[in-house]
Amino acid sequence: MEIIIQPTYARLAEVAAEIIRDALLKKPNLVLGLATGSTPIGVYEALVQMHRTDRLDFSNVTTFNLDEYVGIPPDHPYSYHTFMRTHLFNLINIPVENYHIPQSTVVGHAEFCERYEAAIVDAGGIDIQVLGIGRDGHIGFNEPSSSLGSRTRIKTLTRGTLEANASHFGGTVDTVPKMAITMGVGTIMEAKQCLLLASGGPKAEAIANAVEGPITAEVPASVLQMHPRAVVIIDDAAASQLKRVDYYKQVYANKLELLSRDG
Ligand code: PGA
Repeated sequence: MEIIIQPTYARLAEVAAEIIRDALLKKPNLVLGLATGSTPIGVYEALVQMHRTDRLDFSNVTTFNLDEYVGIPPDHPYSYHTFMRTHLFNLINIPVENYHIPQSTVVGHAEFCERYEAAIVDAGGIDIQVLGIGRDGHIGFNEPSSSLGSRTRIKTLTRGTLEANASHFGGTVDTVPKMAITMGVGTIMEAKQCLLLASGGPKAEAIANAVEGPITAEVPASVLQMHPRAVVIIDDAAASQLKRVDYYKQVYANKLELLSRDG
């Protein structure tokens, strides 16, 4: 794993956006896997800025979102459809037919999940998958105990996840959708590169478990230790429970030095 530790959330968001920008400049028809939640918002802001000021072109980009709640309409103010349109899709030049978000209804979900997986394969697979992490170590909505080989399916959300998202749904756990459609851990692992983002002290334990703990379905993000190109981009606060912070910082400093020597 490559561990990039930045002093602030703003810097980690910039670093992640720069990785995406550099990949997009090399491959205009990049296939991106995208995440919702508070953590990627700064990344999307940086990409929108690059689109506005540097004309970063998303017209040939295809995207697949990780997940969506089941049982709320796509135009619900806190659906992930609304989130993505508000924070990214309406602000860049991606054609509407190029972005994909799991459907929020339960009707025909098994067929939908199969089609979603097939669409990812048809697009050539995901080049870069953006990931947040839950305090319980979930990625997407793959809660602890999710099979590390799981595919896109419906998952029941844990009490902790319902509580973390309650503020969006009137403040009580009872009003948060209880289930979500999510890409599986196995689906995520097929992305060519994964960017795991985390900011703030409340994520420090999950990051320590994911990066330095055993690989276990109890911490779904820990499976990224097996991914050949997993990049963990975090701020100092989220890194605060890692044992080898100094080493990770040295590794990254050496990488930047080598890159600068290459010109
Ligand atoms: P957050 O959510 O970015 O809002 O902290 C991350 C997650 O639960 O996956």
